[in-house]
Amino acid sequence: MPDNPWDNTALHLHGVDLDRGDVAVLRGLDWVVRPAERWVVLGPNGCGKTTLVQLASGYLHPTRGTVHILGERLGRTDVRSLRRRIAVVSASISRMLVPHLSAREVVVSAATGALEPWWDSYSGEQRGRAARLLADAGFGHVSDRPYGLLSEGERQQVLLARALMSEPELVLMDEPCAGLDMGGRERLLQSLARFARQEGAPPAVMVTHHVEEVPSGFTHAFVMKEGRCLAQGRIGQVLRSEVLSACFELPLELHHDGDRWWSRASS
Ligand SMILES: Nc1ncnc2c1ncn2[C@@H]1O[C@H](COP(=O)(O)OP(=O)(O)O)[C@@H](O)[C@H]1O
Ligand SMILES: [Mg+2]
Repeated sequence: MPDNPWDNTALHLHGVDLDRGDVAVLRGLDWVVRPAERWVVLGPNGCGKTTLVQLASGYLHPTRGTVHILGERLGRTDVRSLRRRIAVVSASISRMLVPHLSAREVVVSAATGALEPWWDSYSGEQRGRAARLLADAGFGHVSDRPYGLLSEGERQQVLLARALMSEPELVLMDEPCAGLDMGGRERLLQSLARFARQEGAPPAVMVTHHVEEVPSGFTHAFVMKEGRCLAQGRIGQVLRSEVLSACFELPLELHHDGDRWWSRASS
């Protein structure tokens, strides 16, 4: 047994409440994410998904309860060094990137955890890895283009490559498919499925509103409503019509073909 029972968990939330001002944003959350697991977090707008990602990345602290991230307890650890072990793909990270940097620069700069590249500090191996990550996703052709001029779909691929560049111990993604057209979404889901299949890939959490965006190979689901957890566990047990209907307050039918999910209002 490890000294600390949370040493080998990626995330452990126990009895977590989070208030922002007088708004009760998260309520009574208990959640364990283990090393080989890839979770989707599903729930309607405003239910607390982004807040949960901010908590899981050490940017917010719980008002009550305890949060362990990669074995470290929030409030008792240096969050700056903890954050270096975590990769976040989110609209707020995208906004912080300098638009005139090339896609390749955006990716390689993750090697030092910086938002802008320090060219002298990258090894040939790191540069090669950045180029490979973009090429593996099928986006090698955008390497030299300024990030600010890329399409939404290309940007999300660059952000994912950037996330993997830092060899993180935990990957957190907040609505990576938002705003993508169907081709962009499917290409990103292919990259995420490839990531999920890789041996030794880090644990991951991906927020979405849509079951159509659950990548193949994701193993668990955490369904939220009004700051609380409505259901959680293995994806095949949690993603059911009754659960989604209760979550979105509408009779929904859910379909599944062994690999992907889709849903529509019951007729
Ligand atoms: N800084 C804040 N102060 C007060 N309320 C906030 C703050 N940030 C978020 N909220 C509220 O918390 C709730 C959850 O927000 P969020 O986590 O962004 O939801 P989601 O990502 O699921 O759409 C919303 O009702 C939102 O208005
Ligand atoms: Mg959100």
